[in-house]
Parts: sequence; C-alpha cells; structure tokens
Amino acid sequence: MKITSAELQTVCGLNSKIPIHTNKEFVLCGRSNVGKSSFINAMLNRKNLAYTSNTPGKTRTINYYLINNKFYFVDIPGYGYAKASNDEQNAWASFINKYFTTSESIEEIILLCDIRHKPTSDDKTMYDFILDATGYEPIILATKVDKVKKSEIKKNVDIIKKELNTSDDITIIPFSSEDKTGVNEVWKLLNV
Ligand code: GTP
Ligand code: MG
Repeated sequence: MKITSAELQTVCGLNSKIPIHTNKEFVLCGRSNVGKSSFINAMLNRKNLAYTSNTPGKTRTINYYLINNKFYFVDIPGYGYAKASNDEQNAWASFINKYFTTSESIEEIILLCDIRHKPTSDDKTMYDFILDATGYEPIILATKVDKVKKSEIKKNVDIIKKELNTSDDITIIPFSSEDKTGVNEVWKLLNV
C-alpha cells in the first residue's frame, strides 16, 4: 500500500457532533493500551502520527486520520481504563454508541486483543456490540505478537476465538506494530 498522505483531520470530544463522511471509515476498537494508536502508526509507517503511550487511557477523543485523501482510520478511546470514573466510562460508552449508530461510512471495524491475555468481559461486550450494531463480525487482530513465543501464537489465538465465541471460520490476524507482523495481511483485507 502506497501512502501518499496521512493527517489527523478531526478530533471529537464528548460534546462534539459526529462528522458525516462519504469516505470509508475503518474503526479501531479495543481495550486501553492494546495498541490501537500504534497500529495506525505501523500501518502508515509513521512514528508519531497517532499519539501512543505507556499510560493507558491516552486517547480520550475520537480521532479521524485521513489517508491518501481517500479513507479514514478512526481511533476511538479504549475501554477498561481503570482510572476513569464510572460516570466518565458511561459517558464515553454512550458517545461511542452514538458514533456507531450515526456514522454512515463505517466500512470495517477492527477489534484489537492483546495476544498475551485472555479477552476480558469488556472485550466480549465490545465484540457482541459490534455484531449487534452492524450485523458483521469485526476483523480481529491479536496484537503484540512480538512479545510471545512462536509456539504460543496458535494456542493464544484459539483462546481469543473461544472467549469471544466467534464464528469458527473467522480469521484472527497476529499483529505487531513493533516488527510489522500482519501489516500486509491487514492491508489486503481492507482492500482500499
Ligand atoms: P489508548 O489510547 O490508551 O486506548 O491505548 P492504545 O490502544 O492506543 O495503545 P498504544 O498504541 O498507545 O500502545 C500502548 C503501549 O503498548 C505503548 O507503550 C506501545 O509502544 C505498546 N505497543 C503497542 N503495540 C505494540 C506491539 O505490537 N508490540 C509491542 N511490543 N508493544 C506494543
Ligand atoms: Mg491510543
């Protein structure tokens, strides 16, 4: 995939209106710290376009990155951020819900799960919500695959499948923003 341009075009806070685009949107969801912002940087081969951090809960806005003037990566806040208050988490859950129900250009939803950990109940809720809201299964990436032994990859991917109760034929792509495992495979799947 040849990237000719990539820019952070729109940032939406809790009280912002959800923008309506005609260009396709590819949405990144997943727990705080799972690697959503790093995914965007890795796919675009940019070091710091999307802000990443060791401190979970960094992305507190919906960020729209316009790529090649043609499609968007949409970085939404991670869930399960322990330090956020219940009120704050509920406000964000309803804002994200509004995004999914308002946007008319969502082409694919990409759900990221950390390959080192069993999916949490929040992951399962998110997976079920995506199925409900769109009728489609998300693309699932098992992130940080550089951190596990090769021999553990299949076993851990199977645990993700089982815990989320996905369909049997779903493809879960092992992904690493660190060594770029999976980047080409994801581009193929996105078909932009
Ligand atoms: P929030 O914005 O809090 O929702 O987090 P996020 O999902 O955007 O995570 P982010 O991309 O900021 O990554 C969190 C931390 O994990 C950072 O320290 C990254 O460097 C690290 N990280 C992300 N992806 C990978 C990966 O594939 N391999 C390794 N080893 N580290 C990764
Ligand atoms: Mg982030």
